[in-house]
Amino acid sequence: MVMRDSIPVKIAIGAAIVLALLFSSWFGSSSFAQETAKPQNTLEKSFPSSSKCKRCHERVFEEWEISPLAHSIHSPAFRASLDTFLVSPAGKDKAQCFRCHAPHIREFPDQVQHFIEQAKSGDPLLDGVACAQCHLIKHVDRAKQPPEPKYELGSMTLYGPYKDFVPNLAHQSMELGLFQKSDLCLNCHQSVPSATNLGKTNDLLGSWDQDKMTKAGKECQTCHMPEQVGESANGEKKRKVANHTFPGRLGKLRQEAAKLDVQTKIEGEKTTITVKVQSLVPHNLPATHPAWASVLLDLDIKGKNLKTVFTDKRVYGRVYQDAKGQKTTFDFEAVKVLEDTVLKPDETRVETFTFPTPKDTRTFDVEVTLSYAPLTGPAPFIQRVEAESSRGSFDPAFQPIEIIKYVENVPVNR
Ligand code: HEC
Ligand code: HEC
Ligand code: HEC
Ligand code: HEC
Ligand code: HEC
Repeated sequence: MVMRDSIPVKIAIGAAIVLALLFSSWFGSSSFAQETAKPQNTLEKSFPSSSKCKRCHERVFEEWEISPLAHSIHSPAFRASLDTFLVSPAGKDKAQCFRCHAPHIREFPDQVQHFIEQAKSGDPLLDGVACAQCHLIKHVDRAKQPPEPKYELGSMTLYGPYKDFVPNLAHQSMELGLFQKSDLCLNCHQSVPSATNLGKTNDLLGSWDQDKMTKAGKECQTCHMPEQVGESANGEKKRKVANHTFPGRLGKLRQEAAKLDVQTKIEGEKTTITVKVQSLVPHNLPATHPAWASVLLDLDIKGKNLKTVFTDKRVYGRVYQDAKGQKTTFDFEAVKVLEDTVLKPDETRVETFTFPTPKDTRTFDVEVTLSYAPLTGPAPFIQRVEAESSRGSFDPAFQPIEIIKYVENVPVNR
């Protein structure tokens, strides 16, 4: 375009061009934009793509880009479960998954087919949970279940944490207390609508609001968007900023999830190991959407030549039943919780394992591992995920993610 070719102009003109470009293509209604508007353009004008923010917010963009939020409609597991959902009775509400995974659907419900096609393409051009999808939220209604966001579109204002923001030519800024409150996160993280018929058990986080850390003023952001010092916008003065990699399963926050206390008691032929799993998380661990999400406690006893002589495990998660009385891997099919072994906020769970004392060795190794479990489910679903993934059965969904590991060499005194 002509404007691009004439870059070396005075800064003031450059700024004016930026302003014109941004306003017309983001929020504005220039006649040109209207004439050539395809449905996507309207969507794109109301929810500017994250690549537009990257120009000035490079640090934030690069953090967000590697976060799970940036890939919320990209994973093979998402595509495979979306497919299953769409052919299920609950699938009549086609937009349901996108209300959290690409929440701009809320303002463009008639474009649901476009969202579905984008997700199914495996390489969507459409953003999932990107910058505008959060920074245009003006209010979250917590009386609704799940809580509902209210978007403020067309005012060219992006909401954020700063009162003393540096003004800029691309957008208006406004401080909104919501951005430092859990409320902003709860509209997607508190419960899933598909499971409302589960009543009180339809809570992903458990009684987090009663937890001592929550009561002491910790918000989701305190731990999942930790404070750091850096540039909020390119070239601006360094200040307090929020980490946008959203550490969770990935990132070092994981090391703060739990403590393991392991006691081994050898009584002749019989050995008993007691493991105390102390959750340090102020909400359920794991959060139980998708329904297959679970945490594993693995015990591995290695005897002579480090050969495994005994293994056992415990699973922390939920088992759901569908309307036909069968176990189901999908929360949108669930009508009942059969089993709930999720670690509740701050809970300490005591597990006991008994096994024959390893023979022909003077010592043995006790290995206890707590990890996020790999995806499991009915064979057709697993095959579907493999088929959707360029890495097949090596897709990250099939890999466990270690949270914490305890290793001890125990002498056998005979
Ligand atoms: C519009 C819906 C939405 C909002 C609002 C939202 N999230 Fe999320 N969040 C998601 C989705 C969807 C994922 C899963 C992305 C994926 O892996 O496909 C996710 C993933 C995460 C993860 C990674 C979880 C893991 O298993 O590693 C963290 C941490 C997180 N969000 C924290 C937050 C925090 C903190 C806030 C509030 C500041 C927030 N989210 C607001 C939808 C949302
Ligand atoms: C109320 C908001 C909400 C709705 C509705 C929702 N999800 Fe999610 N979804 C999330 C959040 C938040 C996460 C991240 C959870 C975590 O890591 O603890 C997530 C994670 C996932 C994941 C694992 C991460 C990934 O991308 O592979 C899958 C798969 C998934 N959702 C599928 C679906 C499907 C299919 C639907 C529709 C039936 C759906 N979700 C509806 C909020 C939602
Ligand atoms: C899941 C919601 C969410 C997403 C997605 C998100 N943000 Fe934020 N952002 C927040 C919250 C919440 C804060 C305030 C955190 C705090 O102060 O504790 C914030 C703070 C900011 C700030 C001021 C502090 C800083 O770190 O510079 C900027 C600028 C910003 N976001 C830009 C962006 C851009 C650009 C993107 C996309 C690349 C983005 N955000 C994606 C929720 C989000
Ligand atoms: C022309 C450059 C430019 C572009 C493009 C731009 N911003 Fe900004 N933005 C800034 C500057 C400069 C600040 C002020 C930073 C500061 O005060 O440290 C800012 C501040 C913000 C804040 C903080 C507001 C507050 O009061 O807390 C948010 C949130 C934000 N931008 C989001 C975005 C998002 C989302 C996009 C893309 C839709 C975007 N910005 C595009 C330059 C830009
Ligand atoms: C005191 C710190 C703290 C606070 C506050 C906190 N979390 Fe967490 N959260 C953790 C830790 C620790 C983990 C487990 C380790 C990990 O996955 O990083 C975790 C895990 C998660 C996960 C991924 C695990 C999973 O099972 O899928 C999500 C999603 C999440 N938290 C969301 C939230 C939301 C939403 C809030 C606000 C209501 C919140 N957290 C408040 C510390 C915190």
